[in-house]
Amino acid sequence: MSSQEDTPEENLPAEQDEHGALAEADEKDPFADPGLPPHEHRIQDIDEEAARRSERAVAFMFTLSMLATVGFIASFVTIPADKIVYIFPLGHISGLNFALGMTLGIALFAIGAGAVHWARTLMSDVEIADERHPIEAEPEVRAKVHADFKQGAKESALGRRKLIRNTMFGALTLFPLSAVVLLRDLGPLPEDKLRHTMWKPGLKLVNMNTNEPLRPSDVVVGSLTFAKPEGLEEHDHEFQTEIAKAALMIVRLQPANIKDKRELEWSHEGIVAYSKICTHVGCPISLYEQQTHHVLCPCHQSTFDLSDGARVIFGPAGHALPQLRIGVSDEGYLEALSDFEEPVGPSFWERG
Ligand code: FES
Repeated sequence: MSSQEDTPEENLPAEQDEHGALAEADEKDPFADPGLPPHEHRIQDIDEEAARRSERAVAFMFTLSMLATVGFIASFVTIPADKIVYIFPLGHISGLNFALGMTLGIALFAIGAGAVHWARTLMSDVEIADERHPIEAEPEVRAKVHADFKQGAKESALGRRKLIRNTMFGALTLFPLSAVVLLRDLGPLPEDKLRHTMWKPGLKLVNMNTNEPLRPSDVVVGSLTFAKPEGLEEHDHEFQTEIAKAALMIVRLQPANIKDKRELEWSHEGIVAYSKICTHVGCPISLYEQQTHHVLCPCHQSTFDLSDGARVIFGPAGHALPQLRIGVSDEGYLEALSDFEEPVGPSFWERG
C-alpha cells in the first residue's frame, strides 16, 4: 500500500510531474534526440519538368528585380520632383516619390521572393540534425564545416542552374546602382556657385540690423557688426541664397594688432570685413572675443583669429575665413573694393 507522503517522485503519475513533462518521456530521457521525421520528396525532386518551372519562376523574379531597378533609375532621372499625381486611394501625392517607392519595393521584393522560392523548391531540403558542440571548434569540425559548405554549394545547383545564377548575379549587381543615384540627393557640388557673391567694387556695406549703410565711425573697437550688400532686401526672391554667401562680419582692430600684412592692406583704419560663413560646414559665425580677436563658430567650435588673417586656431574648419577688401567711398561710407577672392563657406569640396 502506498500514500501521498511515501510515494517517490519518480513514481508520480505523468500529470503530477513537477516539470509538467510526460512521465513516459521522463522514463525514456527527456533530453534524448527525438530524431527527424522521414524526408518527403518535393515534386521538384522527382520531376525535372517541375524543377525547370521553378527555375523559370526564380529567374523571372530576379529579372523583374532588374527591370524595377532600371525603372527606379529612370524615374529618378525623368520625373520632375514637383510633379503631383492622383493615385487611388492615396490621393494627390508626389509622382516621383510614388515611382521611386514602387520600383524600389518591387526590386527588393523580387530578389527576396526569388531567393525564397529557389530555396524552397530547388535547394536540398533534407533536414540534418546537428548536435551541440563545445564552442571551441576542433580542426575536424572546421574541416567538416568546409566540406558541408562545399556540399551545400553543390546541392544549391548554383553551378548547374546557370539561368538562376546569371539572373541572380544580374539582380544583385544592378540593385546597388539605385543607391548611387540616390547620392545625388545628398546635394549637388556647389561647383563655382560659391566662387562669386554679390560683392563688387563700389557696393556699400549695409548694417544688417539697421539697414543703414555703414560709416567707419559706426564700427567701434570691441563691437561685432554684421553687414550685407547694398540693395539686398529681405523680401527679395534671392535674399536667402545671396545673404548665405555675402554675409559679413565687421570688426575694428588696432592696426598695430593686425599681424597679417595683406589683412592690413585690405582693411580701412583697422576695420576688417570677413565672411560670416564658417568654412567648416557653413554655420553663421556669431561669437566674438574682443581681447583675443577670436571669433567662434557655435556649431563645432571652430575658432578663427581675426588679427591674423582669420586663420583657424581651433576646430574642424579647414580654411581661414575669406576676407573682403574694403575702403571708403567719396561719400564716406564703407564699400567693397572687389568680390571675395576665395570661395566662401564650406571647404569639404575642392576649392582648387
Ligand atoms: S560649421 Fe563652423 S565649426 Fe562646424
